[in-house]
Amino acid sequence: MSADPPLVSLSRDGAVALITIDHPPVNALSRDVRAGLIAALDGAIADKAVRAIVLACAGKSFCAGADIREFDLPPQPPHLTDVIQRFADAAKPVVAALHGSALGGGCELAAGCHYRVAARGTRIGLPEVNLGLLPGAGGTQRLPRLVGFDAALSMMLDGRPRAVDAGEMAGFTDSIVDSDVRAAAVAFASRVAEAGLGPRRTATLPLPDVTPEVFERHLQAARKRGGEPAPEKIVAAVRRAIDMPFADAVAYARADFLALRETPESKALRYAFFAEREAGRPGAEAASGSPRPLERAAVIGGGTMGQGIAIALLDAGLEVALIEADPAALARAQQRIGAHYEEVVAKGRMASNAVPGIIARLDGGASIDAAHDADVVIEAVFEDIGVKREVFSKLDAIVRTDASSADALATGIALVKRLRKVGVVCKGKDGFIGNRMLLLRTRECLFMLEEGALPRDIDSALTEFGFAMGPLAVGDLAGLDIGWRNANLRRQLRELPGRDCDLLDRLVASHRLGQKTGAGWYRYEAGSRKPIPDPAVEALLIEHSRERGIKRRAIPPTEIVERCLFGMINEAGHILEEGVVSRPSDVDVVWLTGYGFPRYRGGPLFYADRLGVAHVLARVEALRERFGAAFWEPAPLLVRLAANGRGFLGP
Ligand code: CAA
Repeated sequence: MSADPPLVSLSRDGAVALITIDHPPVNALSRDVRAGLIAALDGAIADKAVRAIVLACAGKSFCAGADIREFDLPPQPPHLTDVIQRFADAAKPVVAALHGSALGGGCELAAGCHYRVAARGTRIGLPEVNLGLLPGAGGTQRLPRLVGFDAALSMMLDGRPRAVDAGEMAGFTDSIVDSDVRAAAVAFASRVAEAGLGPRRTATLPLPDVTPEVFERHLQAARKRGGEPAPEKIVAAVRRAIDMPFADAVAYARADFLALRETPESKALRYAFFAEREAGRPGAEAASGSPRPLERAAVIGGGTMGQGIAIALLDAGLEVALIEADPAALARAQQRIGAHYEEVVAKGRMASNAVPGIIARLDGGASIDAAHDADVVIEAVFEDIGVKREVFSKLDAIVRTDASSADALATGIALVKRLRKVGVVCKGKDGFIGNRMLLLRTRECLFMLEEGALPRDIDSALTEFGFAMGPLAVGDLAGLDIGWRNANLRRQLRELPGRDCDLLDRLVASHRLGQKTGAGWYRYEAGSRKPIPDPAVEALLIEHSRERGIKRRAIPPTEIVERCLFGMINEAGHILEEGVVSRPSDVDVVWLTGYGFPRYRGGPLFYADRLGVAHVLARVEALRERFGAAFWEPAPLLVRLAANGRGFLGP
């Protein structure tokens, strides 16, 4: 039986020691890797023949930072901060050889080395903010010394990786090479040793000039991410560079890092990171199928959604047939897709000569026959079972196939990967996951409007909770006629006992369809998307309540949030029970990626577990007492979980 290869190895190339991390898939700095790094460094320092050291990583990338899975455990020595400090203090020059990406602790490790050689195309980044954290291993102090305060703060606050040869990153790397980076780093290290340059410690580099305005500007940006503690902590930690000795400032940042690890926001963001990756993993059914080749797609429906799907498919290199029965709507859709690419070019994100080739891959048709040679057909018509039935009966006439559904599923999953989207496998039930839960939220919004809330009350309660937009402003953006066409929503509003809420019908009848008509739940100035409260809507609501004998009352934000979210969570209980989706975390992924649920709250089910399912159940039961079992009957799963003291996502 052969032993596992070491996670960190030490070899020698002449007078240069080569330390290599080999910890697939992303060379995360787990406890064993950290221990291995110290052992290898000690070995290289002790070897008298070694005059310089190269630190490199095997595989397709340098290192993706700390091992995020370890953040749920107590910190285990050796701590990354200390490991990096050992490299920084090394008596022999250490050169980092970078390729792929160097992220988080990986970027901090590289910054702690004395020199950096990078393969062209390498990306460096400090994405800790996306996990509700700050760079806790010296990055807050070393990055400003290498790239300046402004660039370092931008990197830490937006969390996006930068190309190593981008102008703002110029100070990070000593050499960018097109050849094999490990060999180039060994040659670089030999030259450093021969020239007797010795270690160049980042901590001793002069601090770049900075004005208070830079911190103030980034602080304002950080505050815009209200609800998340990490961004402001990042600015404070970086600022320590100007008023604290280096080691104290690093210790300060590490203490904040450890405190942030324990916050609910960081736990939610880490959960979201793994939930999204889990969603991409096919279940046994898809795993047994083989993806079919994908060259040509048909998109049925030329509305906003169809246009967006067509653009994503074109971007992924597929040929696209856009099928829309209404010729005027088809022309409009094609024109909007063209305008989208003009905008991308204007923003400098694409060369103008690339556009004709993309547009050439798009053709339009009024008949579903245009889908006959498509490898995949995507339906993007209204949420109306009649329209959908018609589309599918026509499709059955031309696309029927003997291929097994496992192959179809595997093909769908492959397509999602190609589009660089996050996909969730679910059963084809009415409303799937997201829209089915959304219906409950929309219903409650409408009921609260007739009970006394104004659109801005509901929207501000939900944006305060963390949604980027309130549900009524979203309705205006999407078009109120879209929700109105949903027969299930109309049934909930008008046919269940005790309610007869025709608000949506009234708005649609008076042609208040949202932004596209300049008026919906709000009004809009010409050319502006800013929702402005509209006295006409307030008058309509008051009249509506009066007609129904409803005494309007102020609805507190806590009630608004509960009624919007707990109905959704309860519906998720039914969705899981019916097996529409197999993993509870997939429900959260749908809401995080598709419906703007605040990521730092983890998704509806993570949020429910945090509150405690028993608490959610108690509130649903209280709402049942007030509004009736037709609307608030607890899902059996919710009752069972609460009785067993369990959460949706585990104990
Ligand atoms: N720790 C543990 N596992 C990680 C990881 C990490 N830092 N980064 C990625 N992985 C795992 C993923 O969960 C996934 O596992 P499964 O195959 O079991 O699902 C696998 O590695 C591959 O990841 P992706 O599917 O995401 O692969 P990709 O090629 O699309 O992307 C990546 C690779 C760009 C590195 C991306 O995974 C990524 O962004 N990772 C997170 C990087 C990050 O946030 N680093 C900061 C960590 S915090 C830190 O370092 C704190 C500090 O100050 C010390």
